[in-house]
Amino acid sequence: MSERTDGRGDVSEPSSTAEDGRSAGDPLLRVENLQKSYGDETVLRGIDFDLDRRDVEVIIGPSGSGKSTMLRCVNRLTEFQGGTISLDGESVMAMNENELRRRVGMVFQDINLFAHLTALENVTLGLRKVLDMSKGDAEDKAMSQLERVGLAPQAASYPAELSGGQKQRVGIARALAMDPELLLFDEPTSALDPELVGEVLEVMRDLADGGMTMLVVTHEMGFARRAASSLMFLDEGKIVERGPPEQLFDSPERDRTREFLARLTTISEEA
Ligand SMILES: Nc1ncnc2c1ncn2[C@@H]1O[C@H](COP(=O)(O)OP(=O)(O)OP(=O)(O)O)[C@@H](O)[C@H]1O
Ligand SMILES: [Mg+2]
Repeated sequence: MSERTDGRGDVSEPSSTAEDGRSAGDPLLRVENLQKSYGDETVLRGIDFDLDRRDVEVIIGPSGSGKSTMLRCVNRLTEFQGGTISLDGESVMAMNENELRRRVGMVFQDINLFAHLTALENVTLGLRKVLDMSKGDAEDKAMSQLERVGLAPQAASYPAELSGGQKQRVGIARALAMDPELLLFDEPTSALDPELVGEVLEVMRDLADGGMTMLVVTHEMGFARRAASSLMFLDEGKIVERGPPEQLFDSPERDRTREFLARLTTISEEA
């Protein structure tokens, strides 16, 4: 979305020069005609959208519609066959993969913490290995990220001693520690017991309120209504409809959007 609809305030754009092909008006993320197949199966059939700084895009769609695949293309966990993905005006294909993944963090459904490391050590690891920070600096930074997600008291706990919600918040702290420009979330709460979903969504809402740019696959429609600047409905590898959440909820243009949202709302009310 190039127009901000949620009034979360102005953002100062980083200055950029004409020589590198960027302009100050570049969106943070631009996806153009993205096409992706696995063998004979076409999964993404020409996806186009922009994400500005501080935008929160929520992506919904049936199982198999290509939501995870799209996120994975953005930070090149999987290769794509057609189209372009640019971060701040630069094609992700031209970037060093480690640099790309530092700038674009990802939080997965499956919480993949190292079992033999404490919460603090799980967050510190990337700072030491990727950013080459000293032990002391990395621990300070990791600790402040754990505070940000409300987990300072659990810094010395091992994953087995944490609840699913706490583990997922460590995962978020770990991603935040790298100072990403964009955070990708792939169903971050769908593996959690229902009573643990809220604490993770609350952290995500705080991030959204703080101006983090986020691309979030989730079927938590309360979060979408409250935090998303835009909602995207993906089906069979195409964007069926995209717009401000209230527009898709209250006056969708497509029947398919209406039917899908009605089903989602029923499911979440039953849960
Ligand atoms: N590594 C893979 N190899 C082959 N096919 C794959 C692979 N990953 C995904 N696919 C296929 O691509 C299609 C889209 O999958 P994807 O995981 O992106 O869907 P999704 O929208 O995230 O679904 P879900 O809601 O179940 O997570 C599916 O048909 C899936 O079987
Ligand atoms: Mg998925």
